[in-house]
Amino acid sequence: MNIDPILKNDWHPVAAVRDLPDETITPVRLLGEELLLWQSGDRIMAWQDICPHRGARLSLGKVCGNTLVCPYHGLAYNPEGQCVLIPAYSTPKPPPNMRVKAYSCVERYGLVWVNLGETETALSSDKIPPFLEWEDANFRKFLCGPFRYQSSGLRAMENFIDVSHFPFVHDGFLGDVNHTKVSTYEVTTDAEGISLNNLKVWQPDPDGTGIGGEVTYNYRIWRPLTASFAKAAQGGKLGLFFTITPLEEEMCLGWMWIAMNYGQDIPEEDLRQFQETVVQQDIPIVESQRPKRLPLDLTAEVHLACDQSAIAYRKWLKRLGVTYGTV
Ligand code: FES
Ligand code: CO
Repeated sequence: MNIDPILKNDWHPVAAVRDLPDETITPVRLLGEELLLWQSGDRIMAWQDICPHRGARLSLGKVCGNTLVCPYHGLAYNPEGQCVLIPAYSTPKPPPNMRVKAYSCVERYGLVWVNLGETETALSSDKIPPFLEWEDANFRKFLCGPFRYQSSGLRAMENFIDVSHFPFVHDGFLGDVNHTKVSTYEVTTDAEGISLNNLKVWQPDPDGTGIGGEVTYNYRIWRPLTASFAKAAQGGKLGLFFTITPLEEEMCLGWMWIAMNYGQDIPEEDLRQFQETVVQQDIPIVESQRPKRLPLDLTAEVHLACDQSAIAYRKWLKRLGVTYGTV
């Protein structure tokens, strides 16, 4: 598998903590690699889903105390991945190389983040993108997803930062087909990412009064597969943190945290339903895009003036050296 060093040494969400019951082993996928997650006490482990003895799938095994036991010959591994028991013998100490490949894994924002890299700088969990509203108790937050896209994660991310599709794909939700003009907005690329400021979008009901009006979005692209935006809404603010699991070059999962400091009386179910509808409107379009991988050669597709966000994104990915999920 040809994984570029940028995505390989980056943190990616692989599962929601709420979806990991105790004492269970959860198979997950990241960058084409089959992994498993399991927990011992407060610790979450992300391992290659292969037993070093005969290559059986460890996720078919079980958690036994603070060990994970392989389903084939019963070898037991401690949370470090080291084999501590070979049931076929009563005495021999398992050899040091009877060890499962373990990856760096941390919990953040209710998600389990995994890094397949090996260098210390890459593995600093400070590199996990900030979710600015996370610590602010005035914001009500809920996690939506995972949403599965049969496409490159980079195509899905580019869709997230594309506003000129709102009146067409999300007419009546995020846009209005009678208000399709896109005014100029500011794009700033720096060493750490891209800021998109002052994107104005006409929305059918920005204030909850049933009257259409203009809304201003400000986006930040933190990492190739993580971005967020904030917009003013109903006297308060709505923040959306979008992060993508690259399962394969042409398959990904999208996770969305919504944070809002207004509308306490709006039922969470209604908000989720709205978000679910919007994403389900996007998915068939993104999945229809050809090629499925994002073209980084700027001459490969034809751009409009309103595509500055996508142009900056493609240029930045190219400069970083991202190749996974691109063409
Ligand atoms: Fe896992 Fe033999 S393959 S114990
Ligand atoms: Co959309």
